[in-house]
Amino acid sequence: MKLIEVKDNEEMSVEVCKLVKMKINTLATPVLGLATGSTPERLYELLVDEVQKESLSFKNVTTFNLDEYVGISGNDRNSYRYYMNSKFFDHIDIQIENTHVPNGLAKNISKECENYESRIEELKGIDLQILGIGRNGHIGFNEPGTPFSTQTHVVELEESTRKANSRFFQSLEEVPTRAITMGIDTIMKSKEIVLLVSGEKKAEALNALINGEVSEKFPASILQKHPHVTIFADEAVLKSP
Ligand code: GLP
Repeated sequence: MKLIEVKDNEEMSVEVCKLVKMKINTLATPVLGLATGSTPERLYELLVDEVQKESLSFKNVTTFNLDEYVGISGNDRNSYRYYMNSKFFDHIDIQIENTHVPNGLAKNISKECENYESRIEELKGIDLQILGIGRNGHIGFNEPGTPFSTQTHVVELEESTRKANSRFFQSLEEVPTRAITMGIDTIMKSKEIVLLVSGEKKAEALNALINGEVSEKFPASILQKHPHVTIFADEAVLKSP
């Protein structure tokens, strides 16, 4: 794993934006894995700017998001589909049918998971996966204890994850209890991974990721075994005790 230290989320976003741009410009049909949460928001704004300046095009790009809540529709403001459309896809020249976010309202959830995984395989996997990390070490929504062998599946969210994400909802009760997420194996099959770690609240997680043992108790630790991971960490996370 390569660690790149940056000043703040702004510098991180600028650097990762350059990486994404390079990847898109070097591949004929790039496949990107995308994350939600607060950390990549600025990255999406910068990518939108690039498209609006006409120095980048997503015409040939396909995307797969890491995860989605179960039980809420893509039109719900708290769904990850809504997040992606409103912050990113609606402002770029991507073909909307080439954007994939699991369907949290699918009648047959296990079939939805299987199809999601197959679609990624059909396109020969993810070229560049943008990843965030939860304070408990989750990647996507793979909570501690998730087997490393999992593919796209349904998870029960930990109380701490629901609390952390309740800031986007009216109340904790509204936060769904389940989600569909790419599995750890799905994420590990990405050809390249860029992990964004920003803010002092993530200091313990970053430390465990870099210095801890590889264990299912801390899902992100598996990244130590991936051949091409770059971690961008800002001063707030690096300087926090
Ligand atoms: C959610 C998402 C993760 C994301 C994490 C961190 O739980 N499912 O994919 O990495 O939040 O989000 P934030 O960047 O807001 O800290």
